[in-house]
Amino acid sequence: MKIRHLPTTHFGLAVAACLTTALAGAAFAQAPPPKAAGIESEGYVWNKMEGGEKELALTLKGDVVNGEEAYEICGGCHLPSGSGRPDGTFPQLAGQHKSVVIKQIADIRAGRRDNPIMYPFAKTLTDQQELADVAAYIQTLPIPSDNGKGEGGALELGAKLYARDCVVCHLDHGQGDAEKFFPVLAGQHYKYLLRQINDIAEGRRRNANPDMVKVVKTYSPAELDAVVDYMSRLEWPERAVKN
Ligand code: HEC
Ligand code: HEC
Repeated sequence: MKIRHLPTTHFGLAVAACLTTALAGAAFAQAPPPKAAGIESEGYVWNKMEGGEKELALTLKGDVVNGEEAYEICGGCHLPSGSGRPDGTFPQLAGQHKSVVIKQIADIRAGRRDNPIMYPFAKTLTDQQELADVAAYIQTLPIPSDNGKGEGGALELGAKLYARDCVVCHLDHGQGDAEKFFPVLAGQHYKYLLRQINDIAEGRRRNANPDMVKVVKTYSPAELDAVVDYMSRLEWPERAVKN
């Protein structure tokens, strides 16, 4: 059986989720994720340590049709629409830059971004061509606007911090920058953003950009919460779901 061809649409996500959990268990038992040097190590240089896999995948034109097929197994967690879940367990992926998807998956496969839940599935992408294909497909999916938002209690503070410290890289609609590997954050779930920003501040997101870490480290918990609450409300019409 080719595991990529799980019938996610006919039998529903519950079946896919059970199968994916079982497969994760099996694959994990065979091959624990590797551990590559990250931000905690002295010679860390952001975005320069992924090696040949990222560089090669970036040169390839992704095939969206093949990418859709490769994405089937991903949809078990990230959902077929790519919307992820508001509870923050699985991030929103739809509309993400192809370059960012390639970098993040290369980091996960190399063990520079720790993601034991997803690691066995990241390994189902057979080669760099398939990595480029799935990334190209994800970029074509429209960004939903019904993502999980925060409570909205300190949006003014959030807006102020975002304008001062974050907009320079993440831009005013949260559209990031494909060329520079800055992710799209528009439409991302508040609870996922909050988990990531805490991981970033405390050095657990080991593939993070050190210029970002430097700023985020100085934030109080209330400031971290305010800025990601604000970010969860960013919209990027160009790649959004059209009403
Ligand atoms: C078993 C569930 C599961 C499956 C299947 C899965 N993922 Fe993930 N994925 C996750 C989790 C959990 C995270 C967030 C990890 C974290 O908190 O750092 C994630 C994160 C990501 C990210 C990083 C998102 C970001 O905003 O930085 C990308 C890209 C991604 N997944 C793509 C894929 C692709 C492509 C596939 C299929 C080959 C896939 N995932 C399959 C669980 C899964
Ligand atoms: C120097 C550029 C830069 C600045 C400034 C910056 N970021 Fe980032 N941010 C990045 C990059 C690059 C990533 C992707 C992670 C990586 O691979 O380094 C990222 C990722 C993130 C993520 C995780 C997104 C995901 O999909 O997993 C969050 C949350 C985030 N940034 C929040 C912030 C906040 C809040 C600020 C301002 C306080 C900020 N960033 C400032 C470059 C920046």
